[in-house]
Amino acid sequence: MSSNSSRTEPIAQNIIKLISNLCFSVFVFSVLIFTVIAITYHPPDPWLESTPALTNLFTQSQNATFRIDSSVLKTGEDLAPSPQDPPLPSPPPSASAVTEAVIEKSEQQIANSTANSTADSTDSTDAALPSPPACDGTINCSNPRVRIAIQRFNLRAFKSIAFFDYQPPVNGSVAGECDVAWRFRNKRERSWRKYRDFRRFKIAVTDDCRYKVVHAGGWHSGANARRNMTRSGAARGGKTLPPRASARDDEINDTIPTLGSETNFRNGKYLYYSRGGDYCKGMNHYLWSFLCGLGEAMFLNRTFVMDLSVCLASTYNPSNKDEEGKDFRYYFDFEHLKETASIVEEGEFLRDWKNWDKTHLKKKIPVRKVVNHKVTPMQLKKDKSTIIWRQFDAPEPENYWYRVCEGEAAKNIQRPWHAVWKSKRLMNIVTEISGRLDWDFDAVHVVRGEKAQNKELWPHLDYDTSPDVLVEKLKWMVQPWRHLYIATNEPYYNYFDKLRSNYKVHLLDDYKELWGNTSEWYNETTLLNNGKPVEFDGYMRVAVDTEVFYRGKTRVETFYNLTKDCKDGVNTC
Ligand SMILES: *[C@@H]1O[C@H](CO)[C@@H](O)[C@H](O)[C@H]1NC(C)=O
Ligand SMILES: *[C@@H]1O[C@H](CO)[C@@H](O)[C@H](O)[C@H]1NC(C)=O
Ligand SMILES: *[C@@H]1O[C@H](CO)[C@@H](O)[C@H](O)[C@H]1NC(C)=O
Ligand SMILES: *[C@@H]1O[C@H](CO)[C@@H](O)[C@H](O)[C@H]1NC(C)=O
Ligand SMILES: *[C@@H]1O[C@H](CO)[C@@H](O)[C@H](O)[C@H]1NC(C)=O
Ligand SMILES: *[C@@H]1O[C@H](CO)[C@@H](O)[C@H](O)[C@H]1NC(C)=O
Ligand SMILES: *[C@@H]1O[C@H](CO)[C@@H](O)[C@H](O)[C@H]1NC(C)=O
Ligand SMILES: *[C@@H]1O[C@H](CO)[C@@H](O)[C@H](O)[C@H]1NC(C)=O
Ligand SMILES: *[C@@H]1O[C@H](CO)[C@@H](O)[C@H](O)[C@H]1NC(C)=O
Ligand SMILES: *[C@@H]1O[C@H](CO)[C@@H](O)[C@H](O)[C@H]1NC(C)=O
Ligand SMILES: *[C@@H]1O[C@H](CO)[C@@H](O)[C@H](O)[C@H]1NC(C)=O
Repeated sequence: MSSNSSRTEPIAQNIIKLISNLCFSVFVFSVLIFTVIAITYHPPDPWLESTPALTNLFTQSQNATFRIDSSVLKTGEDLAPSPQDPPLPSPPPSASAVTEAVIEKSEQQIANSTANSTADSTDSTDAALPSPPACDGTINCSNPRVRIAIQRFNLRAFKSIAFFDYQPPVNGSVAGECDVAWRFRNKRERSWRKYRDFRRFKIAVTDDCRYKVVHAGGWHSGANARRNMTRSGAARGGKTLPPRASARDDEINDTIPTLGSETNFRNGKYLYYSRGGDYCKGMNHYLWSFLCGLGEAMFLNRTFVMDLSVCLASTYNPSNKDEEGKDFRYYFDFEHLKETASIVEEGEFLRDWKNWDKTHLKKKIPVRKVVNHKVTPMQLKKDKSTIIWRQFDAPEPENYWYRVCEGEAAKNIQRPWHAVWKSKRLMNIVTEISGRLDWDFDAVHVVRGEKAQNKELWPHLDYDTSPDVLVEKLKWMVQPWRHLYIATNEPYYNYFDKLRSNYKVHLLDDYKELWGNTSEWYNETTLLNNGKPVEFDGYMRVAVDTEVFYRGKTRVETFYNLTKDCKDGVNTC
């Protein structure tokens, strides 16, 4: 792990090469499928594959091999709720955003309490701290008026952000500076997931004795306010946890739940899928299969037994090999899953099962084994066994989990897309990049790699994404000197240098330190991995690149914006 920076380029190249090779081998087949269904398949966004479109794709080609693709699926937090989904959860009561009205109210409170405390200094509730206006010219960060000045400033400066849970400002590095932390969410995000920021503000006193922000530091600049964030205590049963100075993101709780007692285990009802042919297939295949199993568990009103150990397909691995033992939590939000669905981790489950059978020799746990995916969920609905164990031992493609959800079952089982969100640790990186650009940037997605090489299927792509043409085309879509984030699979970092004379160009590799060995991400994933460092793999790269792109104000796609070539080759659009 000591040569992160020097390894990145060969890694990127290898990924591209590998993706290309694999892509090509499934390509002919894909084209067939695509031509058949092209009439109905219109992804609303050609790059960010939408799940409804996928549903379409795979239900219409029942036993289709999954396309191996470097694209990243939209997950629950990106999707507009569809009619059959439960509505977005409303924010917890403690999570009301700090708006102008809220600020005015607390200002009034301060004014009232000041009036009272000058009259009667015995009054000393928390909300009634004496806080005279700033007439003596000194800046006291603890004065609530400072917080109010900062809150007002933030509201004006970041119109697309909703702010929550301001912490009391603390001293900055010199007098006149205050650091303050808060949580926020971008109003364009569809989830209620909140992120933290802490910034340093330079405060001045106006002629009429009021505090005013004269300068605001950038993203995460308020280091002194950094570590004293607490979990939103009120939302979690009313007690605020003490501040913890650990390397973990204290907003994330993805510990593995335990069943507790034997009786708890015995009283549960479980649906257990053993490993099938899906193992080590692409991530889209993984999700498609996983959500089938989880959907069946929900349909049967059972707890789904879940293997947190994921095999990441070689396409995403710098090593070009399938890699086992990746943790689900590197990629997806386990905390959200725990809250949304009834699940138990496989290891815990097997241990409890074994313990039970050992101590209750006469009364073993009732198990129904199901060896064929053609046994439908509807047929299992009446089964009272504690464990329904689906085994997937048939040869491929009969051993894919998602086959369970085909045919009649498709009418009864809803894949719970809302249960899967991307890992907050990855999203923290996305938020950090967007934050450093102050959520005010444009983005372009430039697909190159194998597709650009393949002149037969994409005759113009290489030319249309060449540096000079990019400069020319972007001129009409993105204003000069904007921050421009380029999401791309082009491995050569300097490829986009020509754009630097028109735009402030940003690439994912400019933010390497966010997953480097001094980063929070590194610390946290290392903890998840029993102290061994985790590689920032190809899937994580594409996931972060995609999500940052998605947050750009003007978004320029490769297909249909930069080139008239079709995303999936000639005559597919
Ligand atoms: C982090 O990586 C750099 C080189 O990339 C290396 O010099 C340094 O020793 C590493 N630090 C730790 C704590 O592993
Ligand atoms: C699907 O599988 C059936 C039998 O398993 C086969 O006859 C059919 O050709 C397959 N269809 C496709 C599109 O592969
Ligand atoms: C402040 O005092 C005014 C008048 O005394 C009252 O109308 C207002 O409700 C009070 N506001 C708060 C927040 O206590
Ligand atoms: C201020 O004092 C008045 C009268 O003494 C009282 O009615 C009011 O509740 C007090 N307000 C606060 C915020 O303490
Ligand atoms: C700053 O303000 C807080 C709250 O108003 C107060 O308790 C504290 O004594 C003040 N400190 C100084 C140095 O004025
Ligand atoms: C903050 O700074 C002020 C002077 O700028 C000082 O009086 C005060 O003690 C400092 N507070 C803390 C908590 O260090
Ligand atoms: C964090 O809070 C504790 C007490 O709650 C305080 O002693 C400490 O100085 C704070 N740390 C920072 C960096 O503000
Ligand atoms: C994390 O979640 C588990 C339940 O999944 C809960 O038992 C535990 O107390 C939580 N930990 C914290 C620190 O909130
Ligand atoms: C699911 O199971 C729970 C408890 O086992 C029960 O209360 C609930 O009614 C069941 N729901 C359905 C739809 O069967
Ligand atoms: C990561 O952990 C190391 C050692 O535990 C610590 O020194 C460092 O400050 C941590 N980095 C972050 C960003 O939390
Ligand atoms: C890209 O193309 C789409 C569809 O043709 C269009 O809606 C969008 O406005 C274009 N984007 C830009 C930045 O021109």
